[in-house]
Amino acid sequence: MRVVLITGAAGGIGRATVDYFAARGWRVIGLDRAPFVDIFPADGLFIQADISRPEALDSIFERVRAFTPLLDALVNNAAYQIAKPLLETSLEEWDAVMAVNLRAAFLMAKLAYPLLRAAEGGAIVNVSSVHAIQTSANIAAYAASKGGLLALTRAMAIEFAPDDIRVNAILPGAVDTPMLRAGLNRGHVGNGDIHQRLENLAHKTVNGRVGRPEEIAAAIYFLADNAQSSFMTGQALVVDGGATARLSTE
Ligand code: NAI
Repeated sequence: MRVVLITGAAGGIGRATVDYFAARGWRVIGLDRAPFVDIFPADGLFIQADISRPEALDSIFERVRAFTPLLDALVNNAAYQIAKPLLETSLEEWDAVMAVNLRAAFLMAKLAYPLLRAAEGGAIVNVSSVHAIQTSANIAAYAASKGGLLALTRAMAIEFAPDDIRVNAILPGAVDTPMLRAGLNRGHVGNGDIHQRLENLAHKTVNGRVGRPEEIAAAIYFLADNAQSSFMTGQALVVDGGATARLSTE
């Protein structure tokens, strides 16, 4: 039975990803600073912890190693988003975004590495964002962290290849989750109620709708599963309903 560790497991995309892997027979280790409100898969392990604190990661991995001698996949999915003008972003806010979105992915990969190597064909999937390649006003720290995560993905892919560990990134577009809804206060989809804002957002994508968390989970699974993506590493897979296909000038 294969084993996956998913960070941000209690969030919108994280929960869908837990379900997606569990439904395909994987044992799932979930990590989140928030509690997991539903019932976690019975043969899995949920750890409530803050991955922005490096000292917490050592004790997290003690529990992981007690649970499993190997990891087939690590999904760096947890993220923190601050939506405000760059000039109003404090040093503490900048650091808080980087600590989760970029530094934790680096530290998680380091700690998971011996377990991924033991799987003889491990995979890391970093959940970046379309903000890594195109962005807008009032989301600079988040966009910078996601661009950094994409560069880190390529670097890890090169350094980890000798141990048969593939590393790829997913770049989701707009997906209906608590993070997306919280970020709709930037004025780019009007100032109506949440349903109006979601509707306006949907019209901006080529296929006319916002994504569902399961649609990202399926893409994460594809990159984690050696049976499907064994010849892919160091790549950025955009899953955005066509949002980045359209020229903003036309
Ligand atoms: P979400 O806010 O629903 O879930 C994120 C989860 O990460 C939350 O459960 C939160 O508690 C957890 N988390 C945050 N900081 C943590 C920390 N220090 N320690 C442990 N857990 C922590 O957000 P969503 O939308 O499910 O996001 C998942 C991933 O997808 C993120 O990397 C996000 O940047 C990315 N993404 C989401 C998009 C969207 O439209 N929803 C678009 C592009 C990327």
